Amino acid sequence: MAALLELAHISKRFGGVVVADGISLSVDAGSAVGIVGPNGAGKTTLFGVISGDVRPDGGNVLFEGARINRLDPGARCRLGIGRTYQVPKPFERMNVFENVLVAAQQGGRQRGVPSHERAISSLERCGLMDRANRNAGSLGLLDRKRLELARALATGPRLLLLDEVAGGLTAPEVRDLVEVVRSIRADGTSVIWIEHVVRALVDAVERLLCLSGGDFIADGAPREVLESPAVREVYLGTDDLAIEGTA
Ligand SMILES: Nc1ncnc2c1ncn2[C@@H]1O[C@H](COP(=O)(O)OP(=O)(O)O)[C@@H](O)[C@H]1O
Ligand SMILES: [Mg+2]
Repeated sequence: MAALLELAHISKRFGGVVVADGISLSVDAGSAVGIVGPNGAGKTTLFGVISGDVRPDGGNVLFEGARINRLDPGARCRLGIGRTYQVPKPFERMNVFENVLVAAQQGGRQRGVPSHERAISSLERCGLMDRANRNAGSLGLLDRKRLELARALATGPRLLLLDEVAGGLTAPEVRDLVEVVRSIRADGTSVIWIEHVVRALVDAVERLLCLSGGDFIADGAPREVLESPAVREVYLGTDDLAIEGTA
């Protein structure tokens, strides 16, 4: 069976900075994968390559076995690739419900579920129903992160890309978020989650990768990856990757 997502020999540089140096990755349907790596390692860029926001210099992106290199982000979204952005970008002058409704309308086939119902269930899932009528521009960071997730979810993704959605959250909030992600997975949606809050990843994914120097330097069970000498060396002298984290 073909992998849900396959990256084959992806390369990308910005000027003299090589952010992807022949990256290959295969993600199975139904799985949840975490990605860690130092700031500037190229994690967000890699999401851009998958979602179509960033054009790689070389390599192929396959979704359900088909090459999607030439598809724009909207087409990839309709195929079932949903993503959040590290810096939330809601439509500031629309309310929360309208933001999520637009996502539901623009997303993949809804299998008979009307857009507004999909929007409401995404809001419920992300704990935003009581703010549905608020202007998105008036939301604080935490609610903006929730809205980011609700919008991605409303597109009906088969693959959900989460870019640092737990940053700045308290420990109980992180636990709530992990539960939301688990419930999304239980519905059969695959997840790739970039996160510095390692506690969240350990609880939510079964496979962890570490990106550094343009390629993955570790790939395996989360705790083994976090304890591996290669990963420890990358984080040496920083407290970015404390496994007990904020929990
Ligand atoms: N559009 C861009 N133009 C120039 N440089 C970029 C661009 N996007 C990212 N970079 C650079 O590429 C590197 C990787 O960035 P990024 O993918 O955001 O890393 P991460 O998400 O791992 O922190 C950084 O050095 C960043 O400054
Ligand atoms: Mg990033």
